Amino acid sequence: MSEIIKPEKKPIIFSGIQPSGTLTLGNYIGALKNFSLLQDDYDCIYCIVDMHAITVRQNPADLRRRCMELAAIYIASGLDPKKSLIYCQSHVTGHAELSWILNCFTYMGELNRMTQYKDKAAKHADNINAGLFTYPVLMAADILLFQTNMVPVGVDQKQHLELCRDVAQRFNGVYGNVFTIPEPYIAKVGSKIMSLQEPTRKMSKSDPDDTFVALLDDPDTIRRKIKRAVTDSDGEIRYDPENKPGVSNLLSIMSALGAGSIESLTAELAGQGYGTLKTRTADCVIAALEPLQNEYKKLIADKGYLQGILDENAKTANYLANKTLRKVQKKVGFASRG
Ligand code: TRP
Repeated sequence: MSEIIKPEKKPIIFSGIQPSGTLTLGNYIGALKNFSLLQDDYDCIYCIVDMHAITVRQNPADLRRRCMELAAIYIASGLDPKKSLIYCQSHVTGHAELSWILNCFTYMGELNRMTQYKDKAAKHADNINAGLFTYPVLMAADILLFQTNMVPVGVDQKQHLELCRDVAQRFNGVYGNVFTIPEPYIAKVGSKIMSLQEPTRKMSKSDPDDTFVALLDDPDTIRRKIKRAVTDSDGEIRYDPENKPGVSNLLSIMSALGAGSIESLTAELAGQGYGTLKTRTADCVIAALEPLQNEYKKLIADKGYLQGILDENAKTANYLANKTLRKVQKKVGFASRG
């Protein structure tokens, strides 16, 4: 008799990505590269959060283009759009609808405490709009719509995830177990990649161009940026993030891209100059990004294919989102639908 294997429900991972700015090597090593490894053990949802993006002014044509580009980058970095759900937030109406309801369960005082709001309000003093203030509520709606179990978050989003949990617990406290309470997902692998110019700071797309390698930088640009990376003056290739952050960062990059362990790399490069270290690092980065870049070029040239994926996935996402949304609407007492 053949054994019947009941398909087990996999935990759900939800991640929102802003379609703003360039993705960097840091994003690739810290997140993207590992995403494809999660696909088999989790149901992964990657939402391109264009609704969050308009909390600061965007050029419409650029925003539209970057949503497509982001979808292409995700697929090019190994996500299978048949296994993982990659879609645009604005294509799924449930985000806005649940967000409104959750607004009514979130206190002004809670939102006032959000450090990202304070930072952004200071940075965009001429446009402190209500969307900027309620940004974390929309983020909570994103997560809760899909009964998410885990959310990969960096330190900058931890406070928002905490708020999401508080709001979900508050709602559940009143209406019963409607929402799954999400947990932060801490990646097992993936080191932190630092700025090429200020190696004590995290590599960030919002810093000047020469401080990061962009995923789509061409080989010459990558070589130039890495050649100019800040190191130190003692000339020794050794892993010591505290005293030699620049050199250690280059070693971490190589190791994270599969060039060997930090120990073996240091042993191999011992006694050589920083010139060699930088050439080796650039070679590694170029080789690691090449397949992604080639795949990206193919995808971005085929807008029809990408549009098809986004349309198809939006349908699935709408279906899943509406299951939660209808339950919530019923709980709060909205008029029933025939
Ligand atoms: N706020 C997140 C950021 O700026 C993006 C985001 C939106 C998000 N919705 C999300 C992240 C839901 C995780 C889960 O990075």
